[in-house]
Amino acid sequence: MTTQAESEFLTQTGPGTAMGDLMRQYWIPAAASSEITADGDPVRIKLLGEELIAFRDSSGRVGIMDHRCPHRCASFFFGRNEEDGIRCVYHGWKFDVEGNCLDMANVPPHQDFKQKIKAKAYKTAERNGLVWVFMGDQSSVPALPDIEPNLLPENEVRIMFVQRECNYMQALEGDIDTSHFSFLHAGGVNVEDISRDEIAHYNIVHPQPEYHVADTDWGTMYGAHRPAGPDQTYWRFAQFFFPFWTMPPDGDFADHIIARAWVPMDDTHTMFVHISWMNNKPGLRTDKAGVPLPGMSIGMEKLPNTTDWLGRFRTKANAGNDYLLDRAAQRNGNYTGITGIHLQDQAITESMGAITDHGFEHLSPSDEMITQTRRRLVVAAREFAKTGAPPPCVTNPDVFLKARGGDFVAPKEAEWRDVYDQQMQGSKDPTGRLLAAE
Ligand code: FES
Ligand SMILES: [Fe+2]
Repeated sequence: MTTQAESEFLTQTGPGTAMGDLMRQYWIPAAASSEITADGDPVRIKLLGEELIAFRDSSGRVGIMDHRCPHRCASFFFGRNEEDGIRCVYHGWKFDVEGNCLDMANVPPHQDFKQKIKAKAYKTAERNGLVWVFMGDQSSVPALPDIEPNLLPENEVRIMFVQRECNYMQALEGDIDTSHFSFLHAGGVNVEDISRDEIAHYNIVHPQPEYHVADTDWGTMYGAHRPAGPDQTYWRFAQFFFPFWTMPPDGDFADHIIARAWVPMDDTHTMFVHISWMNNKPGLRTDKAGVPLPGMSIGMEKLPNTTDWLGRFRTKANAGNDYLLDRAAQRNGNYTGITGIHLQDQAITESMGAITDHGFEHLSPSDEMITQTRRRLVVAAREFAKTGAPPPCVTNPDVFLKARGGDFVAPKEAEWRDVYDQQMQGSKDPTGRLLAAE
């Protein structure tokens, strides 16, 4: 069970909160590289409740800093991005991407004290299409995490950002909750319509999986299992890894190089960041004739981005229009009447309230992964608050290369961790970095 105190502890990520402090020990995916152009407009970005400005200078370096100018707090959003720095338009003070004050334009040279002034800038890094920011202690910055799809060349990877209007944790929990697939996404699908070569058909034949769940070096892992004929078991493995990442099982384990971050913008808005290998085989999407199954598309229409703190990557179907729910479609094969797997997840996790009231829940054995993941995060945040020692994975950023999510069929008797290790060993490894689990 999650107590009220634990619930608040888990879901609050602003400055000064224990979970927020924990998350600030990790690199955070902040933006797509393509959003921030050299000498282009500053972009408002909200992360962990902090209002930040991102800009790319003339040399291509990305700066992410508190949006307030350290002179008298005017917003850098209105600033001029010019010649390797951002200039506040109030009195003309100019700062580079590291926050150094380059020019104190309204002060005579003999009164200038620019060497003593710094904007509150965070360390940034960029890798394969993604801009990362580190919001913790700037004097002790760890290495970037080795997250498998982010190690692939940019032209082999799909990166998608989508905003969700709810707390990060309930959004994340949708990815580690395998049994909902058989209902929310595939509840209207007729098993006769699906090819038996498509192993995901076992989700529909057996909507009541059982689970193994374990703590791992990188977070938590489950193996959900269903019978697959007399001698075999259908497995879905998924991962949570620190501090807010998942690897869901929606596709063939061997090539399912996917990671998804659920980044708290604030406690009631989350930025979903999806990174996946383009060459992987998609999960269950079509019937045996190749026709898309009702409601199971993956794309979605987005609203144009605005410059608001919460204006990036919002969907056109949203709570305000009931996610374009079509009751006729709901009666005819689309279980929810909502079109698109992502939107179905979005509708349902947002419907739980901006922050789920954990006191109202009645968790079941199907939620064991969720319980264990909440506990893992709470324990890590408590431990960090108590000792200040680097939390899990910060000093071993390649540990994530032991994790992958996906589905497969294996001999019935095999032990679940052995089955996982064997799959890892037999998997495609386009980065050459995949590690065997211990
Ligand atoms: S407030 Fe920015 S220069 Fe004065
Ligand atoms: Fe889902």
